[in-house]
Amino acid sequence: MRLDKFISEMGYTRKDAELFIKRKRITINNQVALKKDEKVDEVNDIICLDGKMLKYSKYVYIMLNKPAGVLSATDDKTQKTVISLLPETLQNKGLFPVGRLDKETMGLLILTNDGNFCHRVISPKSNVSKVYKFELADEIDEIKIKQIEQGIELKDGYTTLPCKINMQNTKCGKITITEGKYHQIRRMFGAVGNKVVYLERLQEGKIILDQSLKRGEWRELAPNEINID
Ligand code: URA
Repeated sequence: MRLDKFISEMGYTRKDAELFIKRKRITINNQVALKKDEKVDEVNDIICLDGKMLKYSKYVYIMLNKPAGVLSATDDKTQKTVISLLPETLQNKGLFPVGRLDKETMGLLILTNDGNFCHRVISPKSNVSKVYKFELADEIDEIKIKQIEQGIELKDGYTTLPCKINMQNTKCGKITITEGKYHQIRRMFGAVGNKVVYLERLQEGKIILDQSLKRGEWRELAPNEINID
């Protein structure tokens, strides 16, 4: 690939790349790079900026603290998507959300361009558990909680798998599910005549929402988070 493309894939703009090269800040295998259209081998060449190696990674893994009111989609004609919350340098990397959150649901959303990783996380076979914090419109009793925990039939006839609910009080709690059906948690509580008024994903597998991220903020996943199994 071209040197300026390589540098821009490391999170810099093409303009930055051009400047770095002009100012002789880039070396390829210890030789100062002179041309922006120079061809580099992104896997085998050692490319440095100010002496520090730029490590090429084909895939990007992002943790986003999704705010309410934003679509978990890559593009939409009228509505704001999660991709628009990322800097320009990440917007052209083919990222997509790993499992969707409803427009009004907040919290942990992973974005990647690694299809295998996505499959591993959302495939029903993977059994990856997801923890959500919720608040209900009305108080809920133990009997209804047990009904949901055991698996509840939704309006479309589907019966959910067993799950775990820990109530903090009669309206708020945490629920752990291992599935990802459309509007699942809202429909589970809907099936017992209640309504979810607040929903936030806190954890997916071993990936825990980084509490230092404000709504709309993101960071890259650490290597130990990417290995989700
Ligand atoms: N369940 C829902 O109802 N909505 C979500 O966004 C995630 C799980």
